[in-house]
Amino acid sequence: MLDQLPELQSTGLTQLSAAADAAALEAWRLAYLGPSGKLKDAMTAFAKLPKEEKAKVGGQINAVRTAFETAYNEKKTTLGASAGPVSEMVDMTEPGAITSNHLGRRHIIMRVREELCEVFARMGFSVADGPELEDEAHNFTSLNIPAEHPARDPIDNFYVDDPRKSKSPRMLRSQTSTVQIRVMEAAVARDGGSLKHSIKIVAPGRVYRPDTVDATHSFMFHQIEGLYIDRHVTMADLKTTLVQFARAYFGEDSEIRLRPSFFPFTEPSAELDMKIRFRADQPAKWVELGGCGMVHPNVLQGCGINPEEWCGFAFGFGIERIAMKRYEIPDIRMLFENDIRFLQQL
Ligand code: DAH
Repeated sequence: MLDQLPELQSTGLTQLSAAADAAALEAWRLAYLGPSGKLKDAMTAFAKLPKEEKAKVGGQINAVRTAFETAYNEKKTTLGASAGPVSEMVDMTEPGAITSNHLGRRHIIMRVREELCEVFARMGFSVADGPELEDEAHNFTSLNIPAEHPARDPIDNFYVDDPRKSKSPRMLRSQTSTVQIRVMEAAVARDGGSLKHSIKIVAPGRVYRPDTVDATHSFMFHQIEGLYIDRHVTMADLKTTLVQFARAYFGEDSEIRLRPSFFPFTEPSAELDMKIRFRADQPAKWVELGGCGMVHPNVLQGCGINPEEWCGFAFGFGIERIAMKRYEIPDIRMLFENDIRFLQQL
């Protein structure tokens, strides 16, 4: 027994170094270290030895075991490293890592704004724009809003210049109706002082009012304005245009409703509601969208357009209103907080 241990150790280590892969290594482990391996045999023989020999042989057996285990562990590490990632588990169902090269997208308001322009473009409207930093003349006076009108109250507007000191103080526009004036003035100037061509535009853009922010109010929001000036425009044309728009944008079963109202820049004026089915599984609902009417003769005249020759209609409505209804967004603040988790859903 004692004689065989050095031989067992040297053959064992030689055979171990010859193991070339994981299977050979495992076969070696079973042959030498396994429950019925060679070391186990030595232990069985050891148990039968007379007491006085046990102390000496026991130490030798332990030395062989330590030598085997150390060499085995080393071998296992080297074989494992050279085996490479084959042994690594790859979970094919795991979602890919999120990298920084996401494809961006336009904000929902910008997309709705573009969709609206596209529908109106098909109906012959071109897109116009005007400055967000306006003056009181374009925001109020030219729109036939009298000097003492409550809408001019500085508390309800973002004045940039002091309204008491300036003749036409600058302000952030409170409505896109300002673009009506800008477009008509430009057309008259282009036509050499009196209008010679009809006008058919929509003007989307930001407007500003110092409202307290809540789920349905914001100090900045978007409107789209429409203006059609021609020789024989009637209220029937206005209604037809709006119905066609509603059907093209919201679907064939959409309806519109005009409720008599008052705006200084139109006469007659109406509140515009649309009956819209936002979801296939829900009934259509009436939604208040904005205002409209026949352009007031004072407005035409103020821009240098002869109201005896020309007439037209105008309308204006809120873009957030449409986006919120269409995408079931409960709170207008979500549109401006720019939380990427919200924006990615739209
Ligand atoms: N500018 C109005 C507003 O902000 C909306 C409006 C009403 C626009 C009637 C129009 C119109 O063009 O004809 O409340």
